[in-house]
Amino acid sequence: MRWTIEPGLCPRGLTRLPGDKSIAHRALLLAAIADGESHIGNLPAGGDVAATASCLRQLGCEVALDANSVHVQGRGLRGLRAPSGVLDCGNSGTTMRLLAGILAGQPFTATLDGDASLQRRPMERVAAPLRLMGATIKTAEGRAPMAVGGGNLSGIAYETPVPSAQIKSCVLLAGLYAAGATTLREPRPSRDHTERLLQAMGVEISGAAARGGTTLRPPEGLRPLSGEVPGDISSATFWLVAAVLAPRSDLTLEYVGVNPGRAAVIDLLQAWGADIEVVRGSDWYGEPTATLRVRGHGRPLLGGLIEGDLTARLIDELPALALLGATTRDGIAVRDGAELRVKESDRIVTVAASLRALGGELETFEDGFTVPGGQRLSGGVVAAAGDHRVALAAAAVAAGAAGPVRIDGAEVADVSYPGFLRDLVALGGAA
Ligand code: S3P
Repeated sequence: MRWTIEPGLCPRGLTRLPGDKSIAHRALLLAAIADGESHIGNLPAGGDVAATASCLRQLGCEVALDANSVHVQGRGLRGLRAPSGVLDCGNSGTTMRLLAGILAGQPFTATLDGDASLQRRPMERVAAPLRLMGATIKTAEGRAPMAVGGGNLSGIAYETPVPSAQIKSCVLLAGLYAAGATTLREPRPSRDHTERLLQAMGVEISGAAARGGTTLRPPEGLRPLSGEVPGDISSATFWLVAAVLAPRSDLTLEYVGVNPGRAAVIDLLQAWGADIEVVRGSDWYGEPTATLRVRGHGRPLLGGLIEGDLTARLIDELPALALLGATTRDGIAVRDGAELRVKESDRIVTVAASLRALGGELETFEDGFTVPGGQRLSGGVVAAAGDHRVALAAAAVAAGAAGPVRIDGAEVADVSYPGFLRDLVALGGAA
């Protein structure tokens, strides 16, 4: 599918975004092993979360998706059953890596596989700690398909080699089934949705992974969940970027998740001069939410350096920030972002190709890029390259381009933001 966004995109109005993809995966997985029924609303209806739901069904769990809400009949920690076939995780690294942790605790073997993009992504990073805990893991040279033979786990103290919430969550989920406590340390803070949800469901978990370690003790059981998953701050980013680029925009996003580990994009854009108002709302199982109002003022943002912990906290927002960077006064530089190379695409390569296709320039490095400021994007044809965030980032900066922006393969946006095109039309963009 090709999207064409004409110049003049100016987001106005009010909307609620699909639920946070990271939180939704965790809510489904934990509801499946909780005691009792969970009813969870505002799930993102995209391919990634659907893959998690379908794997859980294959494991014997009743998961009824109705529009964007779901009813999960929890099987308890030990009630999953061996699947009859391979578990297809589609494009979703979170599904594969987190489910591997749960499967490591089951008394059967199951095989996880995915699409061509997922088969290229590194799985040894979760296989290694699961083996240390006592699981039998077979991979195809460190990649999917990955067979997980579980049972009889012991708790470990483990330090992740890279800051990754997926590795951290995998080990913590296996820790639910281990004899003794499991402690996890990470070099920089990654998102902590798993820790927050586990705690809210009654698990004893304490400490922070990047500050001395987080320790989990195996529980008797998990309480079920209800209510609405907060809107996805990573999806909100595309709107924030589009709105700051459009001089007369005025957009309100309701019930957005603003977990401090995820919401760095708000502080960063504000520090660069964006007009974003944040009004705190209610929490959902330890996840803070807010209403965001963003208004374009027509002046370029400042830009700046993104490195160290900040890079880890903004990892999914970097494609959109890189393209926005070209329009800033001083430009932007991203360092310590080698993880960008192992996402749904090599995002250093695909972001560079997108920016160049839109008439911009940048310099790339092994761990990031430098994007000079003061550039006026001409528009052009961007290849989504099978990566939802590349497609959505290109759509967002269309608001600042002189000519039309065409996005080939744009259907991949459904992975995290189904309905983006509908919202784009409704909120002020021709598509
Ligand atoms: C995610 C963690 C991040 C992120 C991904 C979702 C999660 O990956 O890029 O989109 O839900 O845990 P890593 O944990 O590999 O950094």
